[in-house]
Amino acid sequence: MIQRPLITSSKWSKKGMLNDIESIKNLARDEISNARRLQDIHNLKVKYLGKKGLLTAKLKSIGSIPGEERPMVGRILNESRNFIESLLRKQEDKFRSSELDKSLRTRQIDVTVPGCFIPTGHLHPITRVLDEISGIFISLGFTVEEGPEVELDYYNFEALNFPKDHPARDMQDTFFISDDVVLRTHTSSVQVRVMERNSPPLRVIATGKVYRCDADVSHIPMFHQLEGFMVDRHIRFSDLKGVLELFIHRVFGPDTSLRFRPSFFPFTEPSAEIDISCVICNGSGCNVCGGTGWIEILGAGMINPRVYEKAGYDPELYTGFAFGLGIERVAMLKYGIDDIRLFPENDKRFLEQF
Ligand code: PHE
Repeated sequence: MIQRPLITSSKWSKKGMLNDIESIKNLARDEISNARRLQDIHNLKVKYLGKKGLLTAKLKSIGSIPGEERPMVGRILNESRNFIESLLRKQEDKFRSSELDKSLRTRQIDVTVPGCFIPTGHLHPITRVLDEISGIFISLGFTVEEGPEVELDYYNFEALNFPKDHPARDMQDTFFISDDVVLRTHTSSVQVRVMERNSPPLRVIATGKVYRCDADVSHIPMFHQLEGFMVDRHIRFSDLKGVLELFIHRVFGPDTSLRFRPSFFPFTEPSAEIDISCVICNGSGCNVCGGTGWIEILGAGMINPRVYEKAGYDPELYTGFAFGLGIERVAMLKYGIDDIRLFPENDKRFLEQF
């Protein structure tokens, strides 16, 4: 920077004043053109035009100038001020646009980069299968009913023709809350509850959690069932067969065969267990079907007249069928899962595969 006294004398002299102004202008011009950053411009603005700036000092001293000279000096001062201001503005614009340029270049947006992935959840595979199966029955005109998981012994057993101490109760290892209250062992408990509230014709499904004191690769103490039943005049076993066949074909494909094996449930007569041709080996035999080519999938039968008596229906007038199936079992076959315990574990690595 040029080190030169900018105010040459404390006494007024026109020449001195004009020289000073000229020096200030020249110095400002040099300094402004040497500025490198926006901050320099800011500092220079303060140095020349700020409250205590060099040119401002000259403007302030105008009062001490003889009156006749004032307009001329005033005009020169104003011109100088405009001059410095315009130089500052030009430099400032230059820096601003080059900074914008730079930031645009360095902060370029690549629109082809994939966006941030926000993981979203989805329904549990059991819920999915439940919804799918329910949807099939709803499309056939069945309505959905619910019953409590903590259930009276009466609806879970007694009303379904399992008298107290009847050996058939051993088929379902029960969690007892008290003598009269159990965790329901099956969704069949909903049957008499619905019949008590409604008169035939009935076409109902009931889904939900059921509980049995049981645990291994194919049994867990809490699992899900879907119950279906239909009651009206003249309902026959062939109606049961037709409904189940349609349902199995929709879930496992139209080439799946069904096999009805005679069985026993206190609340149906006759009763059957229904097998489907193995969906893994198509019936030729594998370890999923134990080499038999068949997989047991549900229990069913014609509703026992004793159940109608409990519900207050006339057993001479009405007939109907009922069936129940385990949702986990369907999900295992559908997705090829060999351990039922994976469902309640809720390990994300498992769930994310659906
Ligand atoms: N509730 C029976 C079970 O859980 C299944 C079933 C339902 C059988 C309806 C016949 C009729 O084993």
